[in-house]
Amino acid sequence: MTFKIELVNVNLHDFDVRESDLYSYDFFEPYCLQLIDDHIELKNLSKPKSGGVFVDFVNGKLAWRRLHGGGNGQPIAKAVFSKKKEKPSVFDATGGLGRDAFVLASLGCTVTMFERNEIVRILLTDGLRRGYEDPEIGQMLKARLQLSSHRTIMELGDEKMCDVVYLDPMYPKKNSSALVKKDMQAFHDIVGLDLDADKLLVKAMKIARMRVSVKRPKGAEYLANVKSNSFIETKSHRFDIYVPNLLQP
Ligand SMILES: C[S@@+](CC[C@H](N)C(=O)[O-])C[C@H]1O[C@@H](n2cnc3c(N)ncnc32)[C@H](O)[C@@H]1O
Repeated sequence: MTFKIELVNVNLHDFDVRESDLYSYDFFEPYCLQLIDDHIELKNLSKPKSGGVFVDFVNGKLAWRRLHGGGNGQPIAKAVFSKKKEKPSVFDATGGLGRDAFVLASLGCTVTMFERNEIVRILLTDGLRRGYEDPEIGQMLKARLQLSSHRTIMELGDEKMCDVVYLDPMYPKKNSSALVKKDMQAFHDIVGLDLDADKLLVKAMKIARMRVSVKRPKGAEYLANVKSNSFIETKSHRFDIYVPNLLQP
């Protein structure tokens, strides 16, 4: 048996959503998007006790990360920009729940997110709305973090249009779901495996002026099997750095 996404107190008119796409996804579990208090959560209706997934740029983990996350010394910062130069414009081509994009924006980058999954777009739009209204971070967020109406960078032309493209596609290893944290299981079920991620690297190399930065699980093969010019490793991840002028995949 499969299910379509259910909407509970969510008004689609508030979102730039392609309705036919929203209902084109089939799931093996009954998922819903539900307005709870001031935010929209993705919930699994068969697991009412487990928490939902929502985007929160203002409180929780991302607030902690903004205030105490290590600033420009964080691996993602080193992977995306050089401390000495001006902060770059970044296309985050795999927006997801906007966590990486938010970290980059709070460090000074101007970030445009692209996200093709309509359910994830609703979560992101809802998180941005609350973030934009926040008295502390609202102005910064409005100036530095946007969701593009283009679902994917693949819809764009081939000319240079940003300094850096950041990529963090789902890692398509079947057994990786065993490693997914419980609270992120719903997100993984909704998005599935990004089996076409290799194409993003090729496109990113065309449109980025300075760098393409790719987040991979540690030990994973290179995206599109193209060796990067350099990389930064953390306990669980590797950021592969490509310099478009030095290498064309
Ligand atoms: C692993 S998640 C990204 C998580 C994100 N970095 C974060 O910090 O929350 C990958 C996301 O990229 C999206 N995605 C994958 N391929 C894409 C493509 N070609 N164009 C647009 N979005 C894509 C997926 O729908 C998914 O939401």
